[in-house]
Amino acid sequence: MCGIVGYLGKNNTKEILLSGLKELEYRGYDSAGIAVLQGDSFESYKAIGKLVNLEEKTKEFTTDGFAVGIGHTRWATHGKPTELNAHPHLGESSYVVHNGIIENYVQLKTKLQAKGINFLSQTDTEVIVHQFEENLYDAKDAFKAFSKTITELEGAYATLLVTKSMPETIYFAKHGSPMLVGVNDAGEKFFASSDSPLIGLAKEVNYFEDGDYGYVNKDELVIYNKNNELVEPKFTSLATDKLSAQKDGYRFFMEKEIYEQSDVIADTLMGRLCDDEIIFDELDKSLFDGINEIKLCACGTSYHSALCASYMFERYAKVRCSVEIASEFRYREPLMSKDTLFVVISQSGETADTLETLKMAKNAGLKTLVVCNVDNSSMVRLADACILTRAGIEKGVASTKAFATQVTVFWMLSLYVAKLRDALNTDGLKHQIHLLREIPTSVIVTDEMHERIKRLSKRYLHGHGFFFIGRDVFFPLALEGALKLKEISYLHAEGYPSGEMKHGPIALADPELFTIALLPQHLLYEKSKSNVEELSARDSTICAISPINFDKADDFIPINVCKDYMLEFFEMMVVVQLLSLEISIRLGNDVDMPRNLAKSVTVE
Ligand code: AGP
Repeated sequence: MCGIVGYLGKNNTKEILLSGLKELEYRGYDSAGIAVLQGDSFESYKAIGKLVNLEEKTKEFTTDGFAVGIGHTRWATHGKPTELNAHPHLGESSYVVHNGIIENYVQLKTKLQAKGINFLSQTDTEVIVHQFEENLYDAKDAFKAFSKTITELEGAYATLLVTKSMPETIYFAKHGSPMLVGVNDAGEKFFASSDSPLIGLAKEVNYFEDGDYGYVNKDELVIYNKNNELVEPKFTSLATDKLSAQKDGYRFFMEKEIYEQSDVIADTLMGRLCDDEIIFDELDKSLFDGINEIKLCACGTSYHSALCASYMFERYAKVRCSVEIASEFRYREPLMSKDTLFVVISQSGETADTLETLKMAKNAGLKTLVVCNVDNSSMVRLADACILTRAGIEKGVASTKAFATQVTVFWMLSLYVAKLRDALNTDGLKHQIHLLREIPTSVIVTDEMHERIKRLSKRYLHGHGFFFIGRDVFFPLALEGALKLKEISYLHAEGYPSGEMKHGPIALADPELFTIALLPQHLLYEKSKSNVEELSARDSTICAISPINFDKADDFIPINVCKDYMLEFFEMMVVVQLLSLEISIRLGNDVDMPRNLAKSVTVE
């Protein structure tokens, strides 16, 4: 998704902007650009495709001393990924970058065009700069003009604007899309749409709240809130560690992140397991007082972990549980009752649809909890309570370790709630805690397993589709396996409950239909096996993943014999992740930045 950077100071503005954009690359984009104002002279460069193209174009460009600059990576929403549609967008003497969507841009654009203003792009963003310049013409004061412009925009945005009429200033506004500003002792100011570009540059950062707007210059950082009150920045310190952002010899970040799962799950468990108790220091037990239902809401992979959670909450904690896709929940006028705990799940904490459902639940007076991987993200700041998943920075667009830690958290949380509700006896709880301690071992990738999957992947590069099938929690795992494959291989794949195949999809069965069958020993083995046999009898090509050898399978990927179905879940999770990875690599795709996808989806 789009990324923003901004810089004000006397160091190498071009390099700071470009390396900031590089840090945001993993979010997904299709064009990029920068604009730098030095004295009364603007330089702007844009390029479609990867950042190397922009680097090439700016090769000869240098700044000398103080300058202000803004930069952007664009993930196309309004208009194709072309150079004209790339940000920054130019007015007569101002440039703007923007994340989010200006919903009333057509009305604004029509009015501006009627006044004779010429638009160069098809984007919604361009209205901001022209509207600003119209207002500047009347107000003769850049900040007044900017503040007025903000009141005229509807939708979600984070925006930076630089103008010749106030050449040593950057104007900013945030409403619905994340943005932060960092400062350092040298008086430099840095903007970005997420932490990573600021690491190592700014010691202290202020995360803007919705409705914040203002400006920075050499001496000041001026912030107004949504009520137009002048507010002090709320500085927090920023991590200084960029190490986790490197590939450490792996071919792709996704591969590295699959291998990291054992460590990050151990981190997620750390301090949270006692002999017969689950500890969440960050939770106040009263969060669960009067709660009769848990509603989970999320998108994509996080939605799949929510589905897993629903099985565990009902099975272990005996609490009614429902799961919602955030983009659906938003507009279906849902009934919300106050005895429901509303739980959102998000790796990034910024997904627009999920964030909006959290706001809806809060407005309806529900208690809210977020399970998230990014501290200080919008959801973390908004929810009543938060559990961090401790997966570390996840760079691959296809989520792996974030999912693994989410499911780990939900396994623990379902037991925590089970204890509160007396739904599990002490022996049962002890047994579960003993199993939880084994997850880090069950996700270790062995050379033997990886090699086997690598070899086998060459047989799955064609065909007319994949069905990942499983029962119970293995159904959401099947959905997740299919999503992984779709995202990075661009092959059609579906996740399906094993028992549902005979109600329609089995009509597709033939040797070119690949069935990836999840066959755990400890959960409905015989039932699942029969479903796979039905497909095998109709000549579908079967790849079985199981601890028990299955002679009707064309291919077989063994997992270790485990004590429990949840450990089998984690073993199989690694297998489906690696299978997608290896298929994608063989197809020559960009595993970490698959086409059309963004890491953090901050538009609805
Ligand atoms: C996962 O591989 C995806 N890229 C995507 O489905 C993702 O899980 C979804 O966009 C939700 O993101 P979030 O967890 O950051 O809210």
